[in-house]
Amino acid sequence: MSLNTIAINQQMDKFDGHQRVWLFGYGSLIYKADFPFIERCPASIAGWSRRFWQGSHDHRGTEAAPGRVATLVPDPGAVCHGMAYLITPDVFAHLDHREKNGYLRLATDIHFDDGSSEQGLVYIATAENAAFLGEASEQQIALQIASAHGPSGPNRDYLLALAQALRDMDRHDAHVFAIEAFLHDAGA
Ligand code: SIN
Repeated sequence: MSLNTIAINQQMDKFDGHQRVWLFGYGSLIYKADFPFIERCPASIAGWSRRFWQGSHDHRGTEAAPGRVATLVPDPGAVCHGMAYLITPDVFAHLDHREKNGYLRLATDIHFDDGSSEQGLVYIATAENAAFLGEASEQQIALQIASAHGPSGPNRDYLLALAQALRDMDRHDAHVFAIEAFLHDAGA
């Protein structure tokens, strides 16, 4: 089941009055920056792990056959690597629409590779959202991804592009790479 979070996200006033805001991306926002940004650099956030536990009914699947896309789950001690973008607040209208199927803006500390950090925002789809599919084995996830397809294209392309982007950044993600391996085994 899908859920539209646009109205909730528009009420997020944490960075009201700021002319620039850092956004942390960990899924398609790493490799598909279809929005203007002032600056982009690799970064990480603490206490979260990337998991393909969120359903995609609008981009990489359909209502009848949802795909699986990345969200973050709380994981004390874990570090999630991704990409940070410095953006102007007007960009959030586009991002809220893109991330509308269950993702909520959350304020977080973003850590940069030079040791500095800034407060910013990340879109997270929590276990409470109606499109959350939850845990499954990496093999099951790969099978679902192999057959799902939505308006933004095959679900497989999302997973493979993310795996490649992480590799390009020299970052290892055991969960993502295991699903990628099962996808290759399945000939997808
Ligand atoms: C993100 O990439 O940060 C959020 C999830 C997605 O759009 O794939």
